[in-house]
Amino acid sequence: MQRFVLATHNPGKLREMSEILSRLGVEVVMPADLGLTVDVEETGTTFAENAMLKAKAICTAANLPAIADDSGLCVDALNGGPGVYSARYGGEGLDDKGRYTLLLNSLRGQSTRAAHFESAIACAFPNGDTLTAAGRCDGTIAFAPMGEGGFGYDPVFFVPALAKTFAQMTAEEKNKISHRGKALAEFVEQLETYLRQ
Ligand code: IMP
Repeated sequence: MQRFVLATHNPGKLREMSEILSRLGVEVVMPADLGLTVDVEETGTTFAENAMLKAKAICTAANLPAIADDSGLCVDALNGGPGVYSARYGGEGLDDKGRYTLLLNSLRGQSTRAAHFESAIACAFPNGDTLTAAGRCDGTIAFAPMGEGGFGYDPVFFVPALAKTFAQMTAEEKNKISHRGKALAEFVEQLETYLRQ
């Protein structure tokens, strides 16, 4: 088993990644499991840049291959915002519901409600090699929240092809079409090829 560090404090993300990567002979641990507390500032202007910043910082600190991801919601009428600021949209005081309510209010009277989620995954190796993968899911911003599942902006992100918001989908349905699901599938393919070489 080869050990990789996943740049996250989220046990849910670790579980998901562990399940997928274990069949490649890869064991995934969190920085905290190694006694590391690396807080990387997300100063990049793109998801890919932020993911690579995090992957490289953790890789250097742990001297192990490191995987990081970054994602967010891009709304056409907001010129692609909140984008890399999705988690901080509206400031520190807001929770998920506060953020999507602010988004709904910001779109009042706008003629286009087109939006998409983006996800970038980066992997950095101690020898300097890197891998990157990306995924995107197109949709629209609903007029009101619908559904109880998921997290973040899920209740207001409507996918016309399934006529449901992300929050109305099962985890399986969402993973099949989501930005993160697509990026992860591409990343696994790349890592498989890299490890075979
Ligand atoms: P991060 O990639 O963990 O930094 O998350 C960025 C932010 O984008 C999250 O806090 C959510 O607000 C939003 N986001 C990313 N992916 C999703 C998703 O699948 N559903 C809902 N919100 C998401």
